[in-house]
This record gives sequence, structure tokens and C-alpha cells, in this order.
Amino acid sequence: APSDPDLVARARAAKARLGERVFVLGHHYQRDEVIEFADVTGDSFKLARDAAARPDAEYIVFCGVHFMAESADILTSDAQQVILPDLAAGCSMADMASAEQVAECWDVLADAGVADVTVPVSYMNSSADIKAFTGRHGGTICTSSNARRALEWAFEQGEKVLFLPDQHLGRNTAVREMGLSLDDCVVYNPHKPGGGLTPERLRAAKMILWRGHCSVHGRFSLESVEDVRARVPGINVLVHPECKHEVVTAADHVGSTEHIIKMLDEAPAGSAWALGTELNLVRRLAAAHPDKQIVFLDRTVCFCSTMNRIDLPHLVWTLESLADGKPVNRIRVDAETEHYAKLALEQMLALP
Ligand code: 13P
Ligand code: SF4
Repeated sequence: APSDPDLVARARAAKARLGERVFVLGHHYQRDEVIEFADVTGDSFKLARDAAARPDAEYIVFCGVHFMAESADILTSDAQQVILPDLAAGCSMADMASAEQVAECWDVLADAGVADVTVPVSYMNSSADIKAFTGRHGGTICTSSNARRALEWAFEQGEKVLFLPDQHLGRNTAVREMGLSLDDCVVYNPHKPGGGLTPERLRAAKMILWRGHCSVHGRFSLESVEDVRARVPGINVLVHPECKHEVVTAADHVGSTEHIIKMLDEAPAGSAWALGTELNLVRRLAAAHPDKQIVFLDRTVCFCSTMNRIDLPHLVWTLESLADGKPVNRIRVDAETEHYAKLALEQMLALP
């Protein structure tokens, strides 16, 4: 549905009042009505860099989810305020790894005698606490666009990797891109004593995967791929690496959000594509490429519900409160967490 013209006018007016003082970032999974007001759009890696590249902006309005706003706060100066238009915009995957659970996991690894040779690699989609844990133990953050480089770096630092919290991105990168076998990977279940793993199994593994997943990408199935191939012969199946291993294996191409966008930009007119990623992005891509057939990989999967919490009313409320000098919804990471999380984030930004 088209946006309410009154809200559009109010958003424009508030942004104009703020001028250069505000910088609005929009993740690719945001609603159209929000993307319209973004000064820059990107995947989580690009937005982390873009936030750090605007030291003069007093307010960074992050249209995305909580962990992204935390990362922006860590990478920007203390004088800058990072604002999340709806505080309830979390991420179910990030919530699957708490600081206590991860500390317990590290004790389990220590008891098995492998903590010293294990390097943590944490996906951007994790809380600031998990990023701080990663920095404290000499690890790095990664995103879906640099997971391979992060793992290659980590395997130069140690023998094993503890990959948090998305088991699928960890497994897909290790097995598809780095030649590890499925047997080299074990899944640590934080809800079972000892992670549900014996010390022997931990000692034999190269990749220790946290049992977390994305509630959107994790829903695409092998059947979705088979169905779309039967419906549209010759279609190219392109999926995000947060999808299950069997889906990624059956797909033609795998890539981060930015990679997906680039592939479609370069695709020939008349080609057909089934996309296994978030629906707001798929719809925008379909609208941007009327010369190509772009379909959603599985019609039963829907939007990321927390990304969708950021809507035009929340954005208007946020921008007007900033313009009125009464900032709301500031995201702040405490100094100690920030210090260690920043080590891990800067390690990611320094990856070759
Ligand atoms: P990217 O932005 O790294 O592609 O990650 C996808 C995602 O799920 C963000 O929440
Ligand atoms: Fe989290 Fe998945 Fe939503 Fe991204 S798409 S915010 S990983 S639930």
C-alpha cells in the first residue's frame, strides 16, 4: 500500500530540519516506506562501515535490528547517538546465544582441553556481549559477505573455530568454500549439558557450530528448491548462506545480500531467478528488474517480523523527536563491553 502522504510529509520536514546532523541507515530488509528515507542502504557489513564513516553526524538513525545499532554505537564516537526507531526490533538469531551460555560453552571447551587452540568467530548477528566475548578471546566478527576470509584468518590463529551463533552460515562457509567435511563440524547445543558433545568429539572437530539459526532463512527447504525448479524450468536459484546446508547445496548460487543484489544487476534480460532471502528485498528487486522474472523461493516464508517493526510511523516519531531536541531510543553499549567488542569488529574491518 502507498505510504500515508501526511506521514511522508512529516518525515521529509523533520529530516530537512535536522539536515546534516542526522544520517539514516537502512538495511536491505527494511520496508519500502523506510528505505525511501535512508541516506544509504546496505547489508550489515556495508552499514557497519558506513556508520563508522560519518563522524560528523550527531545522530545515526539505524533502520535495522538491535545488534546492528549496537555495532554502530561501538564503531562511532561517544559524542554520536545511535537511534533504533523501535526498541523491539531485535533478532531471534542473536537471542539464541546469551553471554552466560557462551561463557559456559568456553568452560566446556576448556574442560575438553581445546579452549587454548580455539578461535571464536562471531557473526555480526549477535549481541554486543557476544562480540565482547569474541574480542576477549582473540577472535573476529564476520558477516555473510566476509565469512570465508574470517574463517581463513581464524584457522591461521588456531586449530579450531567456535562459530556463533548461526550454524548454517558457519557450516556452509566451512564445507562449501573451504573444503572441510561435514564430519569436521559439530553442533554445540546450549540447552544440553556439555553442549550435547563428548570431549572426544570436541577434540576431533575443526568447526564447533553454535546451535542457532535465522527464523526467516532457516525456513527455506529442499522442497522449495525442487518445487520452483519444477514450476519454472531453467530458473536460477540464488539463496543467502543463512539457509540450511541442503538448500545451499541444491541452489545454483549462494551469496550475501549485497552479492544477491549485484548478481541480479548483472543478470541478462529474460533470465529467471528464485530468491531465498527476505521478502522486502525480493519484492524490491522484482520491481527494479521488470525485464527479469524474479520470484520468492517459498511462498510460505514471510518477512523478518522484527525488521518489519521499523515502519514509517516509528521513523517519523524518531526524526521529529530528534528535530525537537528530545532524542528517543538511543542504543548504548557500556564502555567495557564496547572495548572488547570493538577489538573483534576492528579485526573484521582489517581482514584482507
Ligand atoms: P546480511 O545483511 O549480512 O546479508 O545478513 C542478513 C541478515 O539476516 C541480516 O539480519
Ligand atoms: Fe535476524 Fe534473520 Fe531477521 Fe536477519 S533476517 S534480523 S538474522 S531473524
